[in-house]
Amino acid sequence: MAVIAAFAGSAIGLGNIWRFPYLVGENGGAAFILIYVVFTLVLSLPIFLAESAIGRGSQVNCRAAVSFLVPGRAGRWFGFLMVLTPLWLLSYYSVVGGWSMDYLIRALSLEFIHSTPDQLAGNFERFISHPWMPMLFHLSFLGMAAAVVAFGVKSGIEKFCKWSIPTLFVLIVLIAVYSLTLPGANRGVEYLMKPDFSKVTAHTFIDALGQSFFSLSLGTGIIITYSSYIKKGENLMVAGVGTAVSDLTFALLAGFAIIPAVFSAGIEPGAGPTLIFDTLPFIFSNLAQQMPFLSAVVAILFFAAIFIAALTSAISLLEVGVAYLTEEKEMSRGRACALLFVLCGAFGTLCSLSFGPLSRVRLLGLNLFDFADSAASNVFMVLGSLISVILAGWVMPRSELFRELTNGGTLRANARLFPAARFLLQYVTPIGILTLILSSML
Ligand code: PFF
Repeated sequence: MAVIAAFAGSAIGLGNIWRFPYLVGENGGAAFILIYVVFTLVLSLPIFLAESAIGRGSQVNCRAAVSFLVPGRAGRWFGFLMVLTPLWLLSYYSVVGGWSMDYLIRALSLEFIHSTPDQLAGNFERFISHPWMPMLFHLSFLGMAAAVVAFGVKSGIEKFCKWSIPTLFVLIVLIAVYSLTLPGANRGVEYLMKPDFSKVTAHTFIDALGQSFFSLSLGTGIIITYSSYIKKGENLMVAGVGTAVSDLTFALLAGFAIIPAVFSAGIEPGAGPTLIFDTLPFIFSNLAQQMPFLSAVVAILFFAAIFIAALTSAISLLEVGVAYLTEEKEMSRGRACALLFVLCGAFGTLCSLSFGPLSRVRLLGLNLFDFADSAASNVFMVLGSLISVILAGWVMPRSELFRELTNGGTLRANARLFPAARFLLQYVTPIGILTLILSSML
């Protein structure tokens, strides 16, 4: 359970509560969900198994693990990419983590309840473009993640995830129940359940794939790093399926918590990345006119859920770099956390300022935050995932992959599933990923 909780802690995060609902809203609802679920089971789960087998097989940080399989310069670079990707991601992820922290404080101070919807209009825009406030929250959020990681894997990460993940499930179920009882929520439910394939384009598939990788934390060295701490007796297939199922369930619950509420308030679900921060306070304020107490409680629970989910994922992002620095550069955990806090804090600050003072700085037509996000989820993570499946499917000896996924053949059910899993790994996943990349370029 502790292993699944740590994996789920990494997987369940802003990707489920912030990214998933707005992508569903932008891509027409149920059809997107269907594609996303299929991709997770057919493409992402095999990548998860590949990365966990590499990690536990090698028992070292992800840069060294990749170098074992690919000696020489290429291996060093691949491994390095997997250490850098999560740090890159963490830099802008903690900007959004900072927003969730600010919104939790606003919910606690009952701001949404005491303001009229009109007074809240433009609030989020004003906040993210402020010259220093979001930066301060970003750094505080990052500092908290660094503090937990500094305590180590057993006393920091495992302990934190063991209580926070069940708490998150309880919170999101409560919020979904509340949301489903709102007047007009049934239109949202229909949107989530009745696929409209006329809205599906090549982009829908790419968005669904990127979201599936992002949500399961694939291609970033995290699964490799966490798996290197797993004991030999644990069942990797059960850990993989358990993580994927809890991640999917949580995403769907988040969809049912947010989309019906959005419909009930008569708001368009396709608002994009600002969806939850922009529309939810508005919904809470609207409802406060009839039920102020309930509305205040749900607002607090909601932003607390986002904040906790973001923090457990940020912790996993940091652990990859810390494992590398402590194992290869013999740095203490405290020092490694401090160094990475400075580096990610600096890059994240630039991303944070890209909504305000640095909004004119553009790379490939995008501001720094959007550039960082699209480079991470559309390029680095896809590349990292592709490298992992090729390593596990084609470079790692079959016997070694078999040993890791079946515990030396002692897990009978796994041994029976092994040929299918290896087939997915060797052919279906790499061909699927390449096809989607090529089709998105056309
Ligand atoms: N899976 C996390 C989420 O859904 O928010 C984000 C994430 C964490 C992505 C760790 C990648 C990663 F390596």
